[in-house]
Parts: sequence; structure tokens; C-alpha cells
Amino acid sequence: MAITLAFDVYGTLVDPHGMADLLREDVGDDAFPVSRLWRQKQLEFSFRRGLMRMYEDFGVVTRQALRNAMATHGHSLAPEREDALMEAYLTLPAFPDAEPVLEEMGRHHPQFAFSNGSYGALEKVLGHNRLRVHLDGLVSVDDIRSFKPDPAVYTHARRATGALDRPLCLISSNGWDVIGARAAGLMAIWVQRDPATVFEDWGLQPTAVIPDLYRLSEVLWNLPEGG
Ligand code: LAC
Repeated sequence: MAITLAFDVYGTLVDPHGMADLLREDVGDDAFPVSRLWRQKQLEFSFRRGLMRMYEDFGVVTRQALRNAMATHGHSLAPEREDALMEAYLTLPAFPDAEPVLEEMGRHHPQFAFSNGSYGALEKVLGHNRLRVHLDGLVSVDDIRSFKPDPAVYTHARRATGALDRPLCLISSNGWDVIGARAAGLMAIWVQRDPATVFEDWGLQPTAVIPDLYRLSEVLWNLPEGG
């Protein structure tokens, strides 16, 4: 039976740092530092909201993180510009390997997007990049109102993809997401998009490591079905 694939979205299929070009209009050379802190705070806020059981739509988390990143670097945004940036987040660019690989994998595996993003946001960003059409479905944490890496979220992904009794493999560039999935008993392939990123040593290894999605079919071919 083919392994079911669950693709992380932000950082794996689409590039959150695609916002840096737009941010340059607001903050000039601070665009990259602001973009980096924006993403960092977005994740930190989601982890904390999960722990505090104060769930909000990932769009709210992302907006609050943007405000924090701007303020930390000494910038402010007019409300309408903030709205425009949040709208642009729904059309973040895909990584070049995302579409060809989803198209190919879809011929052999059931495959889903699995993300902290809400269904509305996922439909938009994946539709915009012509990725949605290659997926059998979407799984959003919104169903259970918590965030990765809450183990309940990964268990929910198994249920929602119909892979409760079958192998489910996360594909993610986010090392903490891979560790979360492994801790919850899933297979998880780490996409090391940035060769300088070190995998954190928590005693939980990725099932496989690939530099980009183009290498996915090769490693899947070599996996034992049970992982
Ligand atoms: C996602 C973010 C966390 O779940 O990368 O798509």
C-alpha cells in the first residue's frame, strides 16, 4: 500500500521570505531581518498559543508577529498597508520544485497539505501557485484548534488523511515539525532547504534528509512501507 504523504506548507511548498521584496518598500535594508523575525515570532507565538490553549487563526498569529517584528526594528505600518501585506501573504511564491514534484508524487501516493494555516488561507496560497490541484485534500490544525508540534495535531493528520492504520509521512523543511511528527510516531522527511541549517539533536532522527523536493521520489522508493 502506498505511503500517504503530508506536505508542510510554509517553508516547504511556499516561501515565507517571499515577503522580503514587498517589505523593502516599507523598511528598506531591514527587509530581511524583519522578514526573518516575522517568521520566527509567527512560530514562537503559535507554539505559545498551543501551550496556553489560546488558539487563534494562524492569520491572526501572523499579523501579530508582523507587528512585533516591525516594532522591534523600529518601524510602523499604516493599517491599510498592514492589510495589504497580510493579503500578499496569501499569494506567497511557491518553491520551484513544489509543482513538478507534487504532480509526479500524486500519481503514486495519496497526498495532502498539512499546515498550521487555516483552510481559507491554504486554498488561496496553494490555488494561487497551482499546487492545490495536485493534492487529494488539505488538513488544517484549525480542525482541532491547536498548533504543531502538539502531538494531537499529528494524530489528527493521520485520522483526517485516512492513514490511521497506514503509514503517513510528513515532508517538511521545518526541523521542529519533523521532530514533532517523529515524536508522534509518523515518518518524517526533512527537506534541508538551507544547507547551513543544523538538525536539532533531540534523539529523534528524520526518516530521511533531502536537500530539496526533487529527491523525494528516490528516498520514498527506498523506505520500508512501515517506516
Ligand atoms: C505550516 C508552517 C508551520 O504548518 O510551516 O505550514
